[in-house]
Amino acid sequence: MLPYGRQAIDEDDIDAVAEALRSPFLTTGPRIAEFEAALAQATGARFVAAVSSGTAALHAAYRSVGIKPGDEVIMPALTFAATANAALYLGAKPVFGDVDRATGTLDPESAERAVTNRTRAIVAVDYAGHPADYDALRLISARHGLALVDDAAHSLGATDRGRKVGELADVATLSFHPVKLITTGEGGAVITNDPAIHQSIVEFRSHGMVRDDLRLLRHEGPWYHEMHDLGFNYRLTDFQSALGLSQLRKLPLFLARRREIASRYDQDLADQGAFQIPGRRDGVESAWHLYVLRVMEGRADSAHRRRLAFDAFRDRGLGVQVHYLPVYLHPFYQDLGYARGLCPVAEDFYSRAISLPIYPAMTDAEVEQVTHTVRDVAAGLA
Ligand SMILES: Cc1ncc(COP(=O)(O)O)c(C=O)c1O
Repeated sequence: MLPYGRQAIDEDDIDAVAEALRSPFLTTGPRIAEFEAALAQATGARFVAAVSSGTAALHAAYRSVGIKPGDEVIMPALTFAATANAALYLGAKPVFGDVDRATGTLDPESAERAVTNRTRAIVAVDYAGHPADYDALRLISARHGLALVDDAAHSLGATDRGRKVGELADVATLSFHPVKLITTGEGGAVITNDPAIHQSIVEFRSHGMVRDDLRLLRHEGPWYHEMHDLGFNYRLTDFQSALGLSQLRKLPLFLARRREIASRYDQDLADQGAFQIPGRRDGVESAWHLYVLRVMEGRADSAHRRRLAFDAFRDRGLGVQVHYLPVYLHPFYQDLGYARGLCPVAEDFYSRAISLPIYPAMTDAEVEQVTHTVRDVAAGLA
């Protein structure tokens, strides 16, 4: 079965981790700062804080822009649950906006309609690797005095008119889970140009401890540090950073291969008549974390046809997946009182979506196997 995504680990990665394991540092050591500096280069952000997961990154990022109990946080319904869960961790309320029909990213008009006097932030998600429309979202966040957050778990390496994901919002979060653009096993990072946000993240990831002499309230000796706020243990380890550094060196190759596969799919699948290929905005270079087909629009039985297509793909050896059930349709969120029908475009998107295999290690023969299978299944659905 060809999975929809898979890590690419080579002997260089293994050597880098082995070297880190032989060094005196197992958790926080010199490779953390090296990895952070390399990520700053790759993302265009001034400050990077590596953390233990993309979820930890979201929690820390939301905290750093001042999200508090009772605040509302606007976000797209079409995302992984972590985007919303991190707001709940802080006692804030996720408010779901609908998505753009072409790209599946937060629809700016829907986001603006959701603003109330309790809104603190807008979080956009770069669904499948395609940056959300930050130019439009920036105007809205500025008009209402809101923070703008980019959940860039899917989009490391993507650009919008030449701007990288570290340059699009007040703060952005990355994930290094194995199916993502690079991996550290579990891992993540928060990237920003704002020194105050960065400082808040650095303290939050390590119990809210302050070590900076200038900020200490008392000075009791060289051993002394103080806790100023409630934080967590969200630190990444040195050997994970070694893996991240080694992976990051290959990011340009990974992205080039993902883009090559996506354009092969675009070319070979544009005209089969049963599935729409992914939409995009002018000026965007997606990182192609996912390649999401949708069963053609406008047929009453599209959800049924998606099920038939999904089963047919699995039967023919494609480990396709579906991204995502709109967050508020999870039973946990239904119990919180969110109603079905809240975001009709996201619900329709979900009901027709199928993610094809796409990852750097796919061979040309495997890419061809996918396009043949899709054409075959499409013919069967017609
Ligand atoms: C959009 C999005 N946000 C956040 C996350 C959470 O990242 P992690 O799994 O590293 O905690 C994911 C991961 O799957 C994701 O897809």
